[in-house]
Amino acid sequence: MSLQSPINEQGSGMKGKAVVITGGASGIGYAAAKRFAQEGACVVIADYNVEAGRLAVERIQTELGLQLEGKVIFVQTDVSVEESVSALMEAAMTQFGAIDVLINNAGITRDAMLLKMSTEQWQDVININLNGVYYCTRYAAPHMAARGKGKIINTSSIVGLQGNIGQTNYAAAKAGLIGMTRTWSRELGYKGISVNAVAPGFIETEMVAKMPGKVLEGMRAKVPLRRLGTPADVAETYLFLASDAADYINGAVIEVNGGLSI
Ligand code: NAI
Repeated sequence: MSLQSPINEQGSGMKGKAVVITGGASGIGYAAAKRFAQEGACVVIADYNVEAGRLAVERIQTELGLQLEGKVIFVQTDVSVEESVSALMEAAMTQFGAIDVLINNAGITRDAMLLKMSTEQWQDVININLNGVYYCTRYAAPHMAARGKGKIINTSSIVGLQGNIGQTNYAAAKAGLIGMTRTWSRELGYKGISVNAVAPGFIETEMVAKMPGKVLEGMRAKVPLRRLGTPADVAETYLFLASDAADYINGAVIEVNGGLSI
């Protein structure tokens, strides 16, 4: 397997950069953690799930066949708890001495139609998908500002742009996150920090696997490219936005959805 990035002949410029990926233990986050490790980045997998987090570090090492000792670490984190996020960023600084890239990728769904949605379903999604992004950025950005550079990537969704039946809570969080992205791109730009969002369509991960087969088939047929996305499709977009090639992109929302409208 080539370790050279397809981005340009010099690679993505990620070698030795410290990248914090929330929700990095599975799905899109895992694919991203592996891809950044492949580019020679130092990766912090920040995830709630201890078992999956530890396994992710082992899998990356095995699948890439690289000696990654100390270069890919797991820090158990609940992004919805401020103290946990503060400890995460301290751990990243202690291990790698910098935070070059923050990918706010952790997210959950608790779907229900509005008339059946419980307060708990509403709050769980807002706490993790919206408050979590706020806390992580609030605690990572000062470290980036102190060095005059950094890249923040927020994971929105096609649902944040278009809405979706049964996802009031998720749509609110994913749309809110776009508002924060645009605000932070203005607030932090002059400190050398760029902030962008990625809005995936339907990507084949456990989150989507929970959907009924018939719904999935219908979804596939609606995508102009006639396939669902893969975690790697999104990971490549994260890598591009984190790379030197994207240095002048700030405040953008990149859709990765095969052309889908829902
Ligand atoms: P996933 O369910 O496979 O992975 C999410 C990860 O986040 C898990 O490892 C989980 O343990 C972790 N997590 C959950 N709560 C957490 C918390 N409080 N603190 C820290 N980590 C926590 O999900 P997937 O599909 O990889 O999604 C990743 C991101 O992409 C999410 O933000 C999701 O909303 C977004 N997205 C996914 C789409 C899809 O079709 N799969 C489409 C559009 C957006």
